[in-house]
Amino acid sequence: MQVEKKEKLYEGKGKKLYKTSDENLLLAEFKDDLTAFNAQKRGNEEGKGALNCKISSEIFKLLETKGIRTHYKETLADNLMLCQFVEIIPIEVVVRNIATGSLTKRLGIKEGEKLPFTLVEFYYKDDSLSDPLINDEHALILNCVKSVEVLEYLRKIAREVNEILREFFDSRDLMLVDFKLEFGLNKEKEILVADEITPDSCRFWDKNTKEKLDKDRFREDLGNVKMAYEEILKRILLSL
Ligand code: TMP
Repeated sequence: MQVEKKEKLYEGKGKKLYKTSDENLLLAEFKDDLTAFNAQKRGNEEGKGALNCKISSEIFKLLETKGIRTHYKETLADNLMLCQFVEIIPIEVVVRNIATGSLTKRLGIKEGEKLPFTLVEFYYKDDSLSDPLINDEHALILNCVKSVEVLEYLRKIAREVNEILREFFDSRDLMLVDFKLEFGLNKEKEILVADEITPDSCRFWDKNTKEKLDKDRFREDLGNVKMAYEEILKRILLSL
């Protein structure tokens, strides 16, 4: 598809978003920058943007084949993704299968413990507040969504995405530990999975060695960040 890149709409930690000649489409340019802990820690890994663009493209395509609506349209270049224009709902929906990260810090649950059921949490997307954990009533008071039914819908889709991805990555000897989804509304007010699904926004552990193959390698200074992202892409592309 031929689309013209217009002015920059937004620059986030992992991507720049550009308007296009079509008001219903935007271009997401994946950056090599790495940030963690609300951008207090910064880094750069050459080629990370292209890896994330490819990984996210493959995951969005997989979800679409399973009936999950996403904003994904097409991958136009190494680090350039064409997406439907959506208005992002300011909630980060975090899905957890195994306890780690902020969950273990907040509640003292043991690192690596399998949760008795999949946990879905909402965080208010506001950097100035460091994305606080919120409940349904907070989300309504903050006007993130119009009704509690929308929140129920986000939870339902998040669980469906979890089942699809957990099975997919399990067949590739990877544990999907946890991940974050964002959703957006298109012009028709349909709710689509948006943003990205990458090792920046997910945690993957090797099923056998439990080695971390995601942004935790950067957060925890474990080294070999790019190699981990390459490994994730390699396993996604395995034809089984
Ligand atoms: P957490 O344990 O730090 O709360 O992270 C849970 C999951 O959500 C993990 O896979 C990383 C992802 N995540 C993001 O993508 N962006 C964020 O801002 C945060 C806090 C987490």
